[in-house]
Amino acid sequence: MHDFTVTPYSVEGAVDYDRLLDQFGADALTDEQLSDFPQPPHPLLRRGVFYAGRDVERFTSAANRDETVSVVTGRGPSGPMHLGHVLPFYFAKWLQAETGAYVYVPLSDDEKYFAKDLDFEEIHEHTRENLRDLVAVGFDPERTRFVVDTADSDVIYPLAAEFAKDITPATVEATYGDPPNVGLGFYPAVQATHLLLPQLLYGRHPTLVPIAVDQDPHIRVCRDIAGKQRYDVEKPGALLSKFLPRLGGGGGKMSSSGDEPTIYLMDDRETVHEKVSKYAFSGGRADIDEHREKGGDPDADVAYQLLFSFFEEDDETVERLAREYRAGELLSGEMKQYAAGRIADFLEMHQSRRPEGSIRDAVEPYRLTDAERARLRPDVFGAE
Ligand code: TRP
Repeated sequence: MHDFTVTPYSVEGAVDYDRLLDQFGADALTDEQLSDFPQPPHPLLRRGVFYAGRDVERFTSAANRDETVSVVTGRGPSGPMHLGHVLPFYFAKWLQAETGAYVYVPLSDDEKYFAKDLDFEEIHEHTRENLRDLVAVGFDPERTRFVVDTADSDVIYPLAAEFAKDITPATVEATYGDPPNVGLGFYPAVQATHLLLPQLLYGRHPTLVPIAVDQDPHIRVCRDIAGKQRYDVEKPGALLSKFLPRLGGGGGKMSSSGDEPTIYLMDDRETVHEKVSKYAFSGGRADIDEHREKGGDPDADVAYQLLFSFFEEDDETVERLAREYRAGELLSGEMKQYAAGRIADFLEMHQSRRPEGSIRDAVEPYRLTDAERARLRPDVFGAE
C-alpha cells in the first residue's frame, strides 16, 4: 500500500488515480463519453491522460448540437511554465477549434500570493511571462478571454463576494484543510467565479473545465454554489487529467517546486536534450547486452511516457516505439533522443508564437471589453 495526497496546494507520493476518484467522487471516462467528443479525439483523450470527469456529456452533447458551450481552464502564476502546465491550454484550443467554444483563462495571482512565499512584484512578473505563453497557444481572440484576478478585480471581486456568502468555513476546512490565512480561505469563491464567468456573460449553458485532477476540489465547491436556486447557471462540468510524469519517474507530478529538473517552455533544443538524457528515468536495462536480450519497459520509461502523453501524436509511431523497446531493438538512449527531439520541436513552435515587447498590446485582444465588463458587473454607480 502506497500513500499519497492530492489537494490544490500539494501533491505528494505516487498517485493512485483510481483511488483518487473514489476520494473525490468523480467518474472515470467511459468509451461512450469519449466517442461523443469531436473525432478523432485529441491524443490527451485517446491516450487516457484526461481520464475522468463530471457531467462531461452535457458539454459534448450541446457542442454536437452546435449550441453555446464554453471552456474554462486557468493558471496560477507562481513561476515560469513547464511542459505539464501547458497541456490543458493546448487541449482547450483544440476544443475551441472543434466546437466553437468560448475559452476563459483566469490567472489566479491572488491565490499564488496567498499560497506561496512570493511578493506581488514577483508574481506580477510571472503573470506577464505566463500571459506571453498563453498568447502563444493561439486561441481565437474573438472567443477567448484572459482574466487576471487583481487586474480585473472590478469584475471578479463583486461576483466572488456574492459567492463567498455561500461557502462556510466548515466547507473550506473539509475540502482543503485548515487554510494558512483568510486569503486562501476566501479564494474558493474566486475560482468559483472563474468557472461561472461564461454563463454569467452568455446565459445558462454547459461549461467544461479541463484541468489536472488536483483542481477538482475547486470545481466541487463551485458546483455546490451553482446548484443553488438563486443562480441561473448550470454546474460546470469537469474533465480531469493525470499529471505529466516527473522526469525522475516514480509516479509524482512534474513540478517546479522541488529541486528536481523540469523542462520549461522557454528551454532551447540543447537544454531539452541535456535534461532528457541526464534525468529522464529509464525503463531500460542495466546495460546494452541485457537490454537487447530482455527488452525495456516503456511504461516505466519517462521519455516514452512523455511521447505517449502528448508529444507524439501519431498512434502508429507510439505503438512502434513501445514494441521495439520491449523487444530490445530500441535502446534507452535512442528513446530519449527521439523524445527530446519531439519535445524540442513542440517548444520551437510554441516559442515562435510567443509575443515579445509590450505585454499590454499582446494581451489586449484577449481582455474583457467594456461592454462585457458592464454586463458582468452591474455596480453601485452603473445603473443610471
Ligand atoms: N488554481 C489553479 C492553479 O493553481 C489556477 C486556476 C485559476 C484555474 N482559476 C482556474 C484552473 C480555473 C482551472 C480553472 O493552477
